[in-house]
Amino acid sequence: MTNETVPISTDVEIAVTRLRSGGLVALPTETVYGLAADLERPDAIARIYDVKGRPEGHPLIVHVASAEEVSRWAKLDDAASQRLASNCWPGPLTLLLPKRSSVPEIVTGGRTTVGIRVPAHPLALALLNAHGGAVAAPSANRFGHVSPTTVDHVVRDLGTRLDPKRDLILDGGPSAIGVESTIVDMTCDPPQVLRPGGIAPDDINELLGMSTASASGPSRAAGMMASHYAPRTPVLLVERNEDIGERVGHRTVFIIDRTTNLVESAHHLYDDLRRADDAGVDCIVAVLPPAEGLGYAIRDRLMKAAADTPRHLHD
Ligand code: TXA
Ligand code: MG
Repeated sequence: MTNETVPISTDVEIAVTRLRSGGLVALPTETVYGLAADLERPDAIARIYDVKGRPEGHPLIVHVASAEEVSRWAKLDDAASQRLASNCWPGPLTLLLPKRSSVPEIVTGGRTTVGIRVPAHPLALALLNAHGGAVAAPSANRFGHVSPTTVDHVVRDLGTRLDPKRDLILDGGPSAIGVESTIVDMTCDPPQVLRPGGIAPDDINELLGMSTASASGPSRAAGMMASHYAPRTPVLLVERNEDIGERVGHRTVFIIDRTTNLVESAHHLYDDLRRADDAGVDCIVAVLPPAEGLGYAIRDRLMKAAADTPRHLHD
C-alpha cells in the first residue's frame, strides 16, 4: 500500500479517459454520489462489487445521457414508461425495463430487467455525453452503509479502496436532493414502486393516471432489505418531537429532527446520519417526517437505518 490518494477533480475529460481505460469514477448526481464503470467493461464492473464489498447478484443502475440513449440497452416501448421518462428525466427516477443483450450479465445479476436513469447533474451529463456510452453505478458507499452525498463522504468510505492510478473522484459539490432515485418496475402490471426516492410516489401515480402497487415478487430491490443505509450507532425512531424525551433516558443521544422541511431533511439526511455516527453517542434518535412527498423516502431510509438496532434499546 502506498500513501498515494485517489485524485479528486472537476475535469470531465480526465474522468472519461479513466472510465475508458477500465477505471472507476465516483460520479456526482443530484441524488447521491455513484461509483461508475463503463457499462461495456465487465472487468471494471467486477471491481465495483469488490470496492463496495457488495455481494454479486445485486443489480446495478445504468446511467445514460438522455432518454434516446435508453433503447441501446433496454426497451422503452410502452406509453406509460415513455410518459414517465419524458416528464422525469433528467431526474431522480429509475425505470426497470426489459433489458437488451447489450447489457452485460454482471450488471443485472442474471435478471431479464435493467434499472436505468438519466441523472440531473451537469457533471454527470457532461461525462456521459463525452463518453458517448453508458455507465453502471451503485451508490459510492460500502455495501449496507449510509450513502454519500459529498466528496468527503466518498473519500471516507472508499478512499483507500480506490486505485490512485486508475480511478478518480469527480467533484460536483453536495448532491442537491440527498436521497436515491425512486425505482419503478414497469415490467409488471400495475407498475410497482420498488424504492421511494427523489420523486414522490404520488407524482408517479399522477403521471401514470393510476395507482402503482407496492413492491412484491422477484424484482424487489435489494435496497429494500430490512437493514440497509445503516450507521454503526443504534438508531431509535419517534413519530413526534414530543416523544424524544422518553427515548433518551440516561443515554447520550444525537437528535435528528428536520421534519418541518422535507427538502432540507432529504438534502441533509445522510450527512446527519454520518455526523451522528461520528459523535460517539449511545444512540441516534430521529424524528420521522410525515408520510407525504419526499417524506416517504426519508421514512424508508430511517426505518432501514434503525432495522439493526437491538430490541432492548427500544424499551
Ligand atoms: O439515485 C440512485 O439511484 C443512485 C445514483 C448513484 O444513481 N444509485 C443507487 O444505486 O442508489 P444502488 O445500487 O445503491 O441502489 C440501486 C437499487 C438496488 O437496491 C438494486 O438492487 C436495485 O436498485 N436494482 C437495480 N437494478 C435492478 C433490477 N434489474 N431489478 C431489481 N432491482 C434492481
Ligand atoms: Mg446504495
